[in-house]
Amino acid sequence: MDGIAAIENGVRLRFANYIRLGRGVYLDQGTYLHACPNGIEIGANTIVMHGAVLHVYNFRDLPHAGIKIGRDSLVGEYSVIRGQGGVTIGDRVYTSPFTQIIAVNHVFDNPDRPFVEQGITAQGIVIEDDVWLGAGAVITDGVCVGKGAVVAAGAVVTKDVPAHTVVAGVPARPVKKIDGENISKSDRIAYYTRGYGN
Ligand SMILES: CC(C)(COP(=O)(O)OP(=O)(O)OC[C@H]1O[C@@H](n2cnc3c(N)ncnc32)[C@H](O)[C@@H]1OP(=O)(O)O)[C@@H](O)C(=O)NCCC(=O)NCCS
Repeated sequence: MDGIAAIENGVRLRFANYIRLGRGVYLDQGTYLHACPNGIEIGANTIVMHGAVLHVYNFRDLPHAGIKIGRDSLVGEYSVIRGQGGVTIGDRVYTSPFTQIIAVNHVFDNPDRPFVEQGITAQGIVIEDDVWLGAGAVITDGVCVGKGAVVAAGAVVTKDVPAHTVVAGVPARPVKKIDGENISKSDRIAYYTRGYGN
């Protein structure tokens, strides 16, 4: 630990020696971190909400497995992150409830063999700084979500998302560029967290 982290009761940590928590990290009740090599790293002031599961799942000694989350981020309630291919999440990334970031696929090309005998692929997932994943969004293996992008609720992301782009749907497609056009037009009332905005 790099300072004091807050860990509620009912948190389950497996392979705790491979878990690194930054100062001010908060692990809510019922979170489960399983960090078999190469471990889990969570940056300062990041919050992991109730029921979230962060599982490196590296039972095949994959060299690039692991879960790394930057600072000031939030993992929403009941979200699941699977780190076989390596999951790297930036700073100020918020995932809403029930998101899934799954850095692995089964191979199933041979119809004459059960898929469980055909191995897996695990390329890894990158979610850059300032991304917001809406509730229930699924990020599949091999994808990079660019800085400042927004993934709409329920989207299944199978391709890279360009920076500052809103994607939605199954499979997710760009629906909007975040180019500042709407700032002055918006009649939405925004509320700010202490320390952000004014
Ligand atoms: C994406 C979102 C933020 C809306 O952003 P927006 O910039 O206001 O986008 P708009 O409402 O103008 O929608 C743009 C287009 O995307 C579509 N769209 C928006 N959200 C969508 C979704 N979840 N799934 C599919 N399509 C969606 C709209 O229908 C619209 O399509 P159209 O141009 O054909 O009419 C919102 O719909 C959303 O998904 N919010 C997530 C809510 C959430 O998870 N909150 C938890 C907070 S912790």
